[in-house]
Amino acid sequence: MTPFGRRLCEVTEARDSGGYRVFSALDVTGPEPGAGQFYMLAADQGWGGAGGRPYLSRAFAAAGAEAGRRGVRIDFLAEAVGPGTDRLTALEPGDGLWVVGPLGRSFSPPSELSPEAAGAILVGGGIGVATLAIWRRALAAAGVPTRTLLGFRDRRHSGGLELFDCSEIRLASEDGHAGHQGYVTDLLAVMLEGDDAASAAVYACGPPAMLESVREMCAERDIPCELALEAPMACGYGACFGCAIPRAAGGYMRLCVDGPVVRGDEISTALVPGSGH
Ligand SMILES: Cc1cc2nc3c(=O)[nH]c(=O)nc-3n(C[C@H](O)[C@H](O)[C@H](O)COP(=O)(O)OP(=O)(O)OC[C@H]3O[C@@H](n4cnc5c(N)ncnc54)[C@H](O)[C@@H]3O)c2cc1C
Ligand code: FES
Repeated sequence: MTPFGRRLCEVTEARDSGGYRVFSALDVTGPEPGAGQFYMLAADQGWGGAGGRPYLSRAFAAAGAEAGRRGVRIDFLAEAVGPGTDRLTALEPGDGLWVVGPLGRSFSPPSELSPEAAGAILVGGGIGVATLAIWRRALAAAGVPTRTLLGFRDRRHSGGLELFDCSEIRLASEDGHAGHQGYVTDLLAVMLEGDDAASAAVYACGPPAMLESVREMCAERDIPCELALEAPMACGYGACFGCAIPRAAGGYMRLCVDGPVVRGDEISTALVPGSGH
């Protein structure tokens, strides 16, 4: 159970990872997050600075977690794109970090998405690779065969590979600095043509255009998929309705409690307004 209210954690590690930043916090009282879950984060100092920004906490996926004697170490992968992420990427060991979480819905094992799905294909883009890192480790621990495809815009907008703890990652980059020059969905298209594609479930997180392409490719081939989506989130626990997105079947879901992980067939588009950077 996620504890009620926010709690103060200590930052235990912070380092650059390519163009991104990894920081870890020790959560003494919270539970271990499920893969796909997220936290609302705010720095203890320097939050709400000049002009009051950032005011609200910012949503961050757990990129890794390990339970130890003193509590749970949670790893985050961050890209500085605005006042909140500027402050969070400047955190150093010993700093205080307010957390609310873990929040939201986790990824489902392949066998829960389809009885035929024995393996997993992970497709990550940009900072979206964070949530797939913790999922890949969970799948490996459960003995699920997993193939990982990651794509980045350029060297400055890339990082976090070491969080995957795996050397078999196929890379794509738009500027050609690593792996295939082009989109990560080019690699997915080739993989989905393979004989064993029908026995896999696809899991993706990344920019909205990438997610929409993955959703369409899987829908055309009847391959089950789950997408970790983003929407602007003010509270993170269902109270503000700021994160509402349409359901394919009609009506709306609140992405913070009904997601952020959703099945591809639960939505008719992954192009969520106000998300992605
Ligand atoms: C479930 C979930 C998980 C997430 N996980 C991660 C994660 O693991 N790592 C991570 O780095 N991020 C993650 N995010 C994204 C992160 O929460 C958002 O990007 C957050 O809003 C950043 O806060 P900020 O204050 O830095 O930028 P914001 O001020 O919120 O700005 C966000 C974007 O809007 C643009 N923007 C801001 N103001 C303006 C303006 N006036 N005009 C035009 N554009 C503007 C910024 O340039 C930026 O691209 C996640 C989001 C969700 C919902
Ligand atoms: S962020 Fe407030 S309801 Fe989802």
